[in-house]
Amino acid sequence: MTQLQIPQQQVEDSNSSANPHFDTLLQARLSRRSVLGGGAGMTAAMMFGTLGLVGCGSDSDDGASGGNTTPPVNNSTALPKKLTFKPVEHSKEDRVIVPEGYQVQIIAPTGTPLFSGVSEWSDNGLQSGESFEKRVGDNHDGMCFYGLKDDKYSSTSSDRGLLAINHEYVVTWMINPLGAYTITNPSPEAVGTIYAKTRLASDIRREVNAHGVAIIEIRRKANSNEVEIVKDSKFNRRITSTTLMDLTGPAAGSDLMKTKFDPQGLTTRGMNNNCGSNYSPWGTYLTTEENFNGVFARGNDAALLTPALEAARRRYGASPNSTGFGYLWHTGADSDAKIPDEFKRWDMTVTGAAAAEDYRYAFNTFGYIVEIDPFSPNSRPAKRTALGRFAHETCSYAPLVEGQPVVFYMGDDARNEYIYKFVSKAVWDAKDKNGGLAAGSKYLDQGTLYVAKFNADGSGEWVELTHGKNGLDSNNSKYPFASQADVVIYARLAADSVGATKMDRPEWTSVSPVTGEVYVTLTNNSTRGIKSKDAEGKDVVLNPTDAANPRVYDGTGDGVADGNRNGHVIRWREAGNKHTALSFNWDVYVFGAAYNTPENLSGLTSLNDMSSPDGLGFDDRGMLWIQTDDGAYTNTTNCMMLAALPGKVGDGASTSVGGVTTYMGAKLTETNLARFLVGPVQCEITGIAFTPDFKTMFVNVQHPGEDGTRAAQTSNWPASQTNPFARALPRSATVVITRKDGGVIAAE
Ligand code: FEO
Ligand code: CA
Ligand code: CA
Repeated sequence: MTQLQIPQQQVEDSNSSANPHFDTLLQARLSRRSVLGGGAGMTAAMMFGTLGLVGCGSDSDDGASGGNTTPPVNNSTALPKKLTFKPVEHSKEDRVIVPEGYQVQIIAPTGTPLFSGVSEWSDNGLQSGESFEKRVGDNHDGMCFYGLKDDKYSSTSSDRGLLAINHEYVVTWMINPLGAYTITNPSPEAVGTIYAKTRLASDIRREVNAHGVAIIEIRRKANSNEVEIVKDSKFNRRITSTTLMDLTGPAAGSDLMKTKFDPQGLTTRGMNNNCGSNYSPWGTYLTTEENFNGVFARGNDAALLTPALEAARRRYGASPNSTGFGYLWHTGADSDAKIPDEFKRWDMTVTGAAAAEDYRYAFNTFGYIVEIDPFSPNSRPAKRTALGRFAHETCSYAPLVEGQPVVFYMGDDARNEYIYKFVSKAVWDAKDKNGGLAAGSKYLDQGTLYVAKFNADGSGEWVELTHGKNGLDSNNSKYPFASQADVVIYARLAADSVGATKMDRPEWTSVSPVTGEVYVTLTNNSTRGIKSKDAEGKDVVLNPTDAANPRVYDGTGDGVADGNRNGHVIRWREAGNKHTALSFNWDVYVFGAAYNTPENLSGLTSLNDMSSPDGLGFDDRGMLWIQTDDGAYTNTTNCMMLAALPGKVGDGASTSVGGVTTYMGAKLTETNLARFLVGPVQCEITGIAFTPDFKTMFVNVQHPGEDGTRAAQTSNWPASQTNPFARALPRSATVVITRKDGGVIAAE
């Protein structure tokens, strides 16, 4: 037996489309002069002075805000004017560090039982796979808090609530008893195939069930800032990579969704790689499927597919004879002769005479926004296919306007992928608040999907991805789109076809409830601007820099770019600040960088510098929170979270970066961007949620000590939080942050 090797930080890289970059794009239509003329030099306080001009003020009580770290009905009474904490310095300690006067409590580490009768966690990893249907999963990620009163949603309840937590993936060596093993398949026919190595069924079950979402009831302890999990709450629930789900929207029932499990193509089992998450305006939980390609295997069946289907699979990262990221869920060693359906479902190889006889299209049933009603424990989650299939990060709604469509923004996190928006067909009716999945069907199953083009002059445009428009028909050279089902299932190919702008890995989106502007983290891109060879062996530049992705670094000092290592945050304002608009103006809010490097374009200091922004969210006060998942600055500091009071698009100026003209927001200072938290060794900081009173904040620490092994741990967190000498297996967990004096967090 050998140890399973799954490299960390897997990032898909399957956009080989020759989409135009700025030098070849059509002349952009919009001038940004008017935007640049007004805002330069304004302070955050001056910005907030203009709030009355924004149609959807965050203190209006007839609509949910566009922020996404607080529940969908705003309760804050005042917008923050300044940050009120002392910034945290860099740290490489194996603990969470918060500002002076703040404290942390750790809850719900991986494997925590949510029900009686389930054993407590033990580092031996012997908990059964089945028991993870009643335990907290692994790699906590996106998260929302829902106030609860009288067993119903309450926008004002801070003392009791539900936490919905994504469990993005598993660190295989942490959750399995002896690490994670592969077993060489003794069958001669298995040599060189996707069945050459197999894994224990028990390990696979543990991993499958440690993915997904946990719904956990929590309450404040009496006379304390601390919270506790309500074991056996009727709301407690695990949704995993096996839970039955509905497929809804244009792709439901498509031939491309039919499987042996459901020959009608209307349901699927499970969701996978749930990354960011958000509230819906009506109070459900919108979770996301990101690197789902990592758990599917595929044999040598290219000859059995049409060229178009083969190209489509590759565009979603599934090459012939591949095992994704190597989890080998399609195997199961205790199942000798015949792999049971439980595992076979992860193998997309064409083996039968028709789609209903194998799992060739199971892959197509993953990669969606998944809606869950946390208040309805028996409800079936719904995969909302109208919002497109790609490596979803978050889905963030714009400020709501009664009688207008509801608008959502989404990123596709893989190198050189795109930013999308969805505009509902139904118009907002505030009576749909608390409408559950029925409201979801109303707003998320019919609407228009768009993809973004960022122009060289600082403007941008939304290109509609609707069957029959913009060349998205059966004559299309990328894919013969026969229906809207084809367009959403292969949204990346549709976006390629209309010349969308390849971005530096779009992660979380969020919309400011104050300005209505949309922010997206672009975490990094190791292939931006690097040299490669074309088919004839000639030197070419892969993914040349452009105005919206302008910065690369030269790590080797040879004058040749080595990618964008620190990432940036881009933002835009829709034309007329109307979220249904088809054009926008953008700038770069912040370039991540170490403060003392030439890449520090945003004026960062040692108290607010950062690298690889990933998690991002506005709270309902208009404060922006930025979290990092970094590998480039980790020699100096662990991953972190920063708080910001951002200005607005156009408050900076145009500038030249490496010969490319781009648009930068105002230089930042420690008064409007400051480090609030640093995490333990080798973690990612992710997930942001508040109680409505802003006195309790929830943040997730994902995969501390990920680079270690059971024999050579690099972190002991959370045990090390209070005792630096503690020795225990590292585990992901939720951090509860409060002020020692019980006050409002971070700003006033
Ligand atoms: Fe799951 Fe792209 O972060
Ligand atoms: Ca170089
Ligand atoms: Ca992330």
